[in-house]
Amino acid sequence: MRTPDDVLAVLRSLRAADPPTHGGRVLSYVYDHGRPELDELVREAAIAFLPVNGLDPTTFTSVAILERDLVAFSREVLRGGSDVVGSVTSGGTESCLLAVKSARDIWRGGHGGAGRRATLVMPTTAHPAFRKAAHYLDLTLVEVPVEAGTGVVDAERLLRAVDDVTTGGAPPALVVVSAPSYPFGVLDPVAEVAAGAASRGVPVHVDACIGGWLLPWWPGETPAWDFAVSGVTSISTDLHKYGYAPKGASVVLYRGRERHRAQYFATADWPGYPVVNPTVLGSRSATALAAAWAVVQVLGPSGYAELVERTASATQRVREVVGEIRGLCVFGHPAAGLLAVVADHGVAPQDRVDPFVLVDRARELGWLLQGQPALTQSDGTVLPRTAHLTLTAVTADVVEELGAALVAAADAARGLPAPAPDRSLIASVAEHGLPTELAGVMSTLEALDTRLVPDLLIQLLAAVIDPDVA
Ligand SMILES: Cc1ncc(COP(=O)(O)O)c(C=O)c1O
Repeated sequence: MRTPDDVLAVLRSLRAADPPTHGGRVLSYVYDHGRPELDELVREAAIAFLPVNGLDPTTFTSVAILERDLVAFSREVLRGGSDVVGSVTSGGTESCLLAVKSARDIWRGGHGGAGRRATLVMPTTAHPAFRKAAHYLDLTLVEVPVEAGTGVVDAERLLRAVDDVTTGGAPPALVVVSAPSYPFGVLDPVAEVAAGAASRGVPVHVDACIGGWLLPWWPGETPAWDFAVSGVTSISTDLHKYGYAPKGASVVLYRGRERHRAQYFATADWPGYPVVNPTVLGSRSATALAAAWAVVQVLGPSGYAELVERTASATQRVREVVGEIRGLCVFGHPAAGLLAVVADHGVAPQDRVDPFVLVDRARELGWLLQGQPALTQSDGTVLPRTAHLTLTAVTADVVEELGAALVAAADAARGLPAPAPDRSLIASVAEHGLPTELAGVMSTLEALDTRLVPDLLIQLLAAVIDPDVA
């Protein structure tokens, strides 16, 4: 038997081997406000709610109050009126999944019952949570290529895809656009798409999982993308991203109570308690809900405005630095704190900086960027290989260090192509885990037929937690 002290020591040492979640050096996955007192608040709030079961807000009435407050605050931020309602979920994927479920069930109600297969139309850049939703909920997915130079979908083209689906049968159950998209941080033409979709009677979901707590306070003019746009019927917005809550909290909102109700599952067809679940889980922790509520209460609109202002100034500075690096540029026109950097093909190959090599060189310097493989879209156009940076409020504290690291990493990477694809690397990863230099693995994955990649990824990741694999 281990003592609690021993067990805690093990947990601490495991955590020490993780990348730093604070300090701005991990430029994806984590969102750091840079304010230690908020971390303390989150800890206390989570501990207070640790034993609570969020399954039943009529028993644990605290849960209902926290959720109601968060829904009310979010809808105000997203300029929704009293016809906008929704739920707190466990994260972006669940919010997106539920928005699709609601749209599918309403579509089935109006278009021929449970047997028919609904369609979801979205740009190539929409988050894979929607692929997952289509897969889980049995929808046909129609993907529309985005402009290869900007990463933005053309509204007319998206609407033509809607018309194509409609011509073949019933209209799509849902159109999805992003505010902004994760890979490139660019904003889709929400107002144009929503107006066109509304005139065709098709609902529009705006995936603001990443931008929903950022864009409302972003300085300068951002084209309208929220509930102020009349054709927008649902929005997902993650508290555990730029809402600066710990992982496990997101909000999905709907225009119209019917849409929200269609997200629920309820049954009395068993001999136990009557079941009514708004979200995917049954029993669920209320820790993230309580922590998110606490963060929102303390920050309020002015706190978010301040954090966004810091994020925006850091982003501006990083864009300037990247703009001055020979062989590298920012891809497209990012709307907020997410940047994708791409090799500058306007310079000679010996001056170019390959994003995958940049990621490896930056990692050596202690900064974690995220490599994003090139993608050939269904029309043959190619979205480039990029390196992704998610910048947060804490970036403002380290922006000059980050800039210097990017310059140094680019200097070390300049003129070096990423290793050529090599299938044997995949077998080696399966046997020995990921190498420290990832460029070769990334270029190999990029070169594979995208239909083959999922199985490989599943094998690799399942092995990581398989007790019988070293
Ligand atoms: C635009 C967008 N949508 C959905 C998601 C999925 O969110 P989660 O990872 O919380 O499930 C993400 C995650 O990065 C995202 O950026």
